[in-house]
Amino acid sequence: MNNDNIITAQGYHVPVLLNESVDALNIVEGGTYVDVTFGGGGHTRHILSKMDGNARLFSFDQDADAEENTHRQSPEGHEPLANDKRFTFVRSNFRFLDNWMRYYDVDHVDGILADLGVSSHHFDDQERGFSFRFDAPLDMRMNKSATLTAAQVLNTYDEERLADVFFLYGEIRQSRRIASAIVKARAKANVQTTQEFATIVEPFFKREREKKEMAKLFQA
Ligand SMILES: C[S@@+](CC[C@H](N)C(=O)[O-])C[C@H]1O[C@@H](n2cnc3c(N)ncnc32)[C@H](O)[C@@H]1O
Repeated sequence: MNNDNIITAQGYHVPVLLNESVDALNIVEGGTYVDVTFGGGGHTRHILSKMDGNARLFSFDQDADAEENTHRQSPEGHEPLANDKRFTFVRSNFRFLDNWMRYYDVDHVDGILADLGVSSHHFDDQERGFSFRFDAPLDMRMNKSATLTAAQVLNTYDEERLADVFFLYGEIRQSRRIASAIVKARAKANVQTTQEFATIVEPFFKREREKKEMAKLFQA
């Protein structure tokens, strides 16, 4: 065991609706389950606690930081998940679920849990650019080996496409005007950091709604 293994996954992410979501899986003896969004492993651990010795669990996450949690003790001090023979971690986007199940010779699964979105860890990691609380490069890649960063999106998408991103994924009402402001700003200099981005878009939001609107924009 190296030193990392005695660090727990505590603080990485607090799982939501833990009992309700895992109860809804109706775990059966010898069943096969998939947690497509492993994160800090809170849901995965709870699923494993309900499984018998013959059941199997495949947990996906595309983020290498999440995978590290499989080698750590649980917040309660339980053994690292990587030591549990019933458990398999798959570092991949879950869009490839079918392919991976074929790879592991699984022809049906009894339940899938998806806790979609970002984890608290993403917001708390100052380097990754998911949060407007910190000044950081506009990265926002969940999969750190992916090539497309948020900065590339902001600096290369045409105005209409940017507006569509803000409107479709953030439900931003002023999406067209914000896209236009970004295109004007980037003509002078590329937008590289969360603070540069915030400075361009803040004037569009009323002070009392600013945090809510910024959160929606960052979500987009
Ligand atoms: C809300 S967190 C899940 C938290 C988890 N249920 C727990 O108990 O800690 C979502 C996780 O899913 C991962 N994720 C999001 N979209 C993904 C995708 N398309 N493929 C694989 N992983 C994804 C993120 O990296 C993040 O770790």
